[in-house]
Amino acid sequence: MADKPKAVPVYAADKSRPVTVATLLDMKRKGLKVAMMTAYDFPTARVAEEAGVDVVLVGDSVAMTKLGYDSTLPVTMDEMMHHVKAVKRGLSRALLVADMPYLTYELDAKEAARNAGRFLKEGGAHAVKLEGGMEIAPIIKELIKVNVPVIGHLGLTPQAVNRLGGYKVQGRRPEDAERILTEARVLEGAGVCAVVLECVPADLAKEITKRLQIPTIGIGAGPHCDGQVLVSDDLLGLTESAPLKFVKRYADLRGAAVKAVSEYCKEVRDGSFPGPEHSFTAKP
Ligand code: KIV
Repeated sequence: MADKPKAVPVYAADKSRPVTVATLLDMKRKGLKVAMMTAYDFPTARVAEEAGVDVVLVGDSVAMTKLGYDSTLPVTMDEMMHHVKAVKRGLSRALLVADMPYLTYELDAKEAARNAGRFLKEGGAHAVKLEGGMEIAPIIKELIKVNVPVIGHLGLTPQAVNRLGGYKVQGRRPEDAERILTEARVLEGAGVCAVVLECVPADLAKEITKRLQIPTIGIGAGPHCDGQVLVSDDLLGLTESAPLKFVKRYADLRGAAVKAVSEYCKEVRDGSFPGPEHSFTAKP
C-alpha cells in the first residue's frame, strides 16, 4: 500500500499564542519549521503578523535595504532602536528579534549586555541576534546572565565582509565546514536559543541541524534547516538589483510601485487626477 502523504502543519505553533524562545525549542522537538523574515517598519510588521510569521527580525540589513548604506557596518544602536520600536508596535504574536549592530557587542561584555538589554527594555524585543563564533561565546554568556535570549549567526556573517573578502559562500572546504560545525556547538553550549546559518552548503547545514538541539534557521543554507529567514525586501521584490541565488521573490512590489507612481505622474500632468470623486464641494 502506498504511504499516505505527510500532512504539512501550516502554522508552527498555536496561532493564538505568542511565540517565545521556548516555542522555538518546542518546534524543533516536534519537527515544525520556523518561518522568519525581517521587518523594519510598522506596516511590514503588520503584514508579517497577519501572514503568520513566527519570528520577525529587525536585521542590521536595514542599513542597506532602508538607509542606503553599502554594507551593514554603519548602522548604529539608535538607528536600530528606531526601527525596533516601530516593528514592535505592529506585532502581537511573533517573536521580535533585534540585530546587534557592528561594534556594539564585540569589544566588551558589559557594554554588550547594556546594549542588548536596551533592545528589550526600550525597544520591546524578545531576543537579540549577534554574529560570530568562539570569540563571542563569553559575550553570549554575559547576555544570558542578564536574561537576554540570544540567537547566533554563523557562515557568511555580513559584518565580517571585509575580512571575508566579500559576500561569499562559507564552509565549502572540509576544514572550514568542520570549524563552522564546531562553532555551532560552542554557541549552543554558550546558551543561544537558535542559530542562523547564512550561505553555507546544504549538506553542512543538514549536519549542523542534526547535531544541535536548538533550531537552525537557514538563509542560503538549503532545505534541511529547522526554519528559514528571508530579508523582507527580497521576499517581496522591493529591491532594484536582481535577486541572489538563494532568494525567492514571492511578489514584485517594486515593479507594481513604479507602475502605480508612473500612472499618478501621468494623471497629474494630463489633469485627470484628481477627479470629481476626489474633490470636495461646499456642501457635503
Ligand atoms: O540583517 C539581516 O537581515 C540578517 C538576516 C540575513 C539573517 O541578519
